[in-house]
Amino acid sequence: MSRVLIAGGAGFLGSHLTDALIEKGYEVVVLDNLSSGLRTNLSSVESRIEFFNDDVAKFDYPKRLDVIVNLASRASRMEWETFPVEVALTNSIGNNNLIKLAIRKEALYLYASSSEVYGKAKVIPTPEEYIGKTSTVGSRSPYDEGKRFGETLVKAYERELGLRGIIMRIFNTYGPRMRGGDTYGRVIDRFIMQALEGKAITVYGDGSQTRSFTYVSDTVGAILSLIENGSEGEIYNIGNDEEKKIIEVANLVKSISYSKSSIKYLPLPPDDPSRRSADASKLRKLGWSPKIDLENGIRRTLNYYAETLNIADHFMRKG
Ligand SMILES: NC(=O)c1ccc[n+]([C@@H]2O[C@H](COP(=O)([O-])OP(=O)(O)OC[C@H]3O[C@@H](n4cnc5c(N)ncnc54)[C@H](O)[C@@H]3O)[C@@H](O)[C@H]2O)c1
Repeated sequence: MSRVLIAGGAGFLGSHLTDALIEKGYEVVVLDNLSSGLRTNLSSVESRIEFFNDDVAKFDYPKRLDVIVNLASRASRMEWETFPVEVALTNSIGNNNLIKLAIRKEALYLYASSSEVYGKAKVIPTPEEYIGKTSTVGSRSPYDEGKRFGETLVKAYERELGLRGIIMRIFNTYGPRMRGGDTYGRVIDRFIMQALEGKAITVYGDGSQTRSFTYVSDTVGAILSLIENGSEGEIYNIGNDEEKKIIEVANLVKSISYSKSSIKYLPLPPDDPSRRSADASKLRKLGWSPKIDLENGIRRTLNYYAETLNIADHFMRKG
């Protein structure tokens, strides 16, 4: 059976991907420095994986590897701002080390890039051919430019040394195990925790900016499709084209959770894209389509946080 190394496997996407691969009978090796991931995310598969607490920049592995999925990178805006050097280097030097490992093992290499490479896209939904523009020096740049350079490295090694690469441009994904706190939480999970804890729901700007959201099992399903049927040398958007205004999402979370939280408007961060949505037709040609709509996904995520936080069910009741 194929052996897959998941870098960043203790994180949000990585731990769900680990669960799915184990379920399908793959051998899974997880590499994670636990900077933003948690060992407990892997507790249900702990005895069935090999785990290495190490940095992607230093890691080596003596045995056969068939696939490497590089998901290692802090992924929330507050983290790019707090740990800018680490984020930039993980996507460059760390990525470089894993690419060289993939070449030595003749393994398929899937690199997790991001919709952030499109910057403020003028074509919505955005296809893979769209050439994005981002600031090299703005506060988002360690991540945006890190991902752009990460992609450049994959393409360079493909051309010069025959890397078997696939670039995944992942759009906003949400669901259980994503960090939901006020500091490092990403939008839906942050809204859900704020609603459950009765805190104000923090919306940046007036909330008219849009994003397209994909539930975690659908994003993981897309990564599985690419591992099994993706074309080497290609770039795939992973996301859907249903645009939602952030204020609509905040109100949806409020109504589904019956929360009495107020909505608090905060200044819009610099370079925040006003619209974002994925043209995922290329991925759909592999047979993929999202299965969980936003309302259902929010419900599932709410249930998870309510259980994890041990929040009394009165937060989830009307009245
Ligand atoms: N979740 C999304 O909506 C989304 C969107 C676009 C792109 N992505 C990309 O997908 C990947 C996974 O994102 P996520 O949401 O699961 O984030 P996450 O923070 O939950 O997971 C990232 C994991 O990588 C680990 N890590 C970070 N730096 C490392 C290093 N130098 N060495 C070893 N491990 C390291 C962290 O400890 C964590 O477990 C990231 O590369 C992210 O940029 C995610």
